[in-house]
Amino acid sequence: ADQIGKMFVEKFRVESPNVRYGEEEIEAVYHYETTDLVHESRDGAYQWIVRPKRVRYDFKTQTRVPKLGVMLVGWGGNNGSTLTAGVIANREGISWVTKDKVQQADYFGSLTQASTIRVGSYNGEEIYAPFKSLLPMVNPDDIVFGGWDISNMNMADAMGRAKVLDIDLQKQLRPYMESMVPLPGIFEPDFVAANQGARANNVIKGTKSEQVQQIIKDIREFKEQTQVDKVVVLWTANTERYSNVIVGLNDTMENLMASLEKNETEISPSTLYGIACVLENVPYINGSPQNTFVPGLIEMAIQRNSLIGGDDFKSGQTKMKSVLVEFLVGAGIKPTSIVSYNHLGNNDGMNLSAPQTFRSKEISKSNVVDDMVSSNGILYEPGEHPDHVIVIKVGFNAQIPLIIYWTTLQNPSVALLQYVPYVGDSKRAMDEYTSEIFMGGRSTIVLHNTCEDSLLAAPIILDLVLLAELSTRIQLKEEGEGKFHSFHPVSAILSYLTKAPLVPPSTPVVNALAKQRAMLENILRACVGLAPENNMNLEYK
Ligand code: NAI
Repeated sequence: ADQIGKMFVEKFRVESPNVRYGEEEIEAVYHYETTDLVHESRDGAYQWIVRPKRVRYDFKTQTRVPKLGVMLVGWGGNNGSTLTAGVIANREGISWVTKDKVQQADYFGSLTQASTIRVGSYNGEEIYAPFKSLLPMVNPDDIVFGGWDISNMNMADAMGRAKVLDIDLQKQLRPYMESMVPLPGIFEPDFVAANQGARANNVIKGTKSEQVQQIIKDIREFKEQTQVDKVVVLWTANTERYSNVIVGLNDTMENLMASLEKNETEISPSTLYGIACVLENVPYINGSPQNTFVPGLIEMAIQRNSLIGGDDFKSGQTKMKSVLVEFLVGAGIKPTSIVSYNHLGNNDGMNLSAPQTFRSKEISKSNVVDDMVSSNGILYEPGEHPDHVIVIKVGFNAQIPLIIYWTTLQNPSVALLQYVPYVGDSKRAMDEYTSEIFMGGRSTIVLHNTCEDSLLAAPIILDLVLLAELSTRIQLKEEGEGKFHSFHPVSAILSYLTKAPLVPPSTPVVNALAKQRAMLENILRACVGLAPENNMNLEYK
């Protein structure tokens, strides 16, 4: 334990001619080492030329941490109630008795709150500090929660309905949560499974345009009542079906706004909340897999410079996949088939038991290994994908109709899902990875994971809102640019936390988990003038 204590520091400060800690801002100059690639003909032969280059960037980070309000769409669901309860338990320093021990509230599973970064070496030891010590961030204990739900159940009862947290903890939290009641939400039965209708007793009436106006009003009133400085909105409501992207309907900002006025049915509730947020310049993050961010909404967010991020929390199976395939392909091993199976029994599982909502999950899970596969031209021919996989999905539970459908995907990554009420929130994920190894050999890895789904998702929601808030306080300027500007409003730096990262147009999508984490950490390091973590340890060589 002594050894561990020595290697950990709570805080640090950078001293360098490149960094200035001011009253209001941290200013940093950072030299980005990158390369220019050129494809040239020389002496009759084409070849690639790589030219290292160094580009100066200036960063400015506002240091005043705002009082943050977080409004969740689907507040009364398993994730929303678990996160709210978890933050109150941390804030109040609550402990509770389990059959094993007295458990203290913690933020395990949160990148910002429970992971560390390497600061450097001291007397032959590696020194680490909390991730959150890199830049001033909102303390999650200080977040004020609010939001919408189509079910009017108060948050104490919603926590009970979710059946996620220990009962002794629930009893202690009830007094804090009984008076929290979600605002009415926008509900459109056509976008979710029919089995969700029974829950919908708290809905906003009126045309789509009136519904958007109501959401705007709700955000303003929440800000007023809670006296928060900033609001972030995050969708953790049911997975919707994909909305059709149609020329003239939602393909451009102008068409989307015209369709809103015409009360077009194909604008989904999640897109309506998005329109309200972008109009209010409030960051909006989508934690579910559907295409909330139709082209018209993306265009509007870019034009109004309002942060959007998504899609689909990367909590369990996909996180493993984006680690394991990165390892395999990086080790020169060729994954040829990846098959994933889930069963779960929470309301999310019930909603996903309908083919149209399950399809959204299938799409968001399907591209998660593409960047890794295409990075290795030794293992895969150009354009080659691992084997076609044929899937049969059979609903065996008596509570849902028997669903059988076949999909042929030109992709190694296939997901199956079953709704099994008995397991509740404790999701089972089983994956089989088959790879080709040396000299035609085969290697098969099988994983079985059992875990409360919402206990994985809640800290990810926390990181998403904290990092989204932080990124709105950072400004940057590339060498030659006259003025500072914010990051691109389509927030790629949140990629580590999402299954199908939404990135700006013409930006590569990175799914590999270690790369995503390195991007985030290294950008925050640059904001305080620190070099990227390169793991070279040259001082010891
Ligand atoms: P849940 O079904 O318990 O909660 C969703 C809540 O949203 C419900 O209370 C429902 O009444 C409400 N709701 C539905 N439509 C609404 C609307 N239009 N406006 C306002 N409220 C609405 O589901 P859970 O487990 O909390 O998951 C939430 C979402 O997060 C799901 O889409 C799920 O696919 C996604 N997700 C969850 C992960 C996890 O590990 N828990 C991982 C990745 C994504």
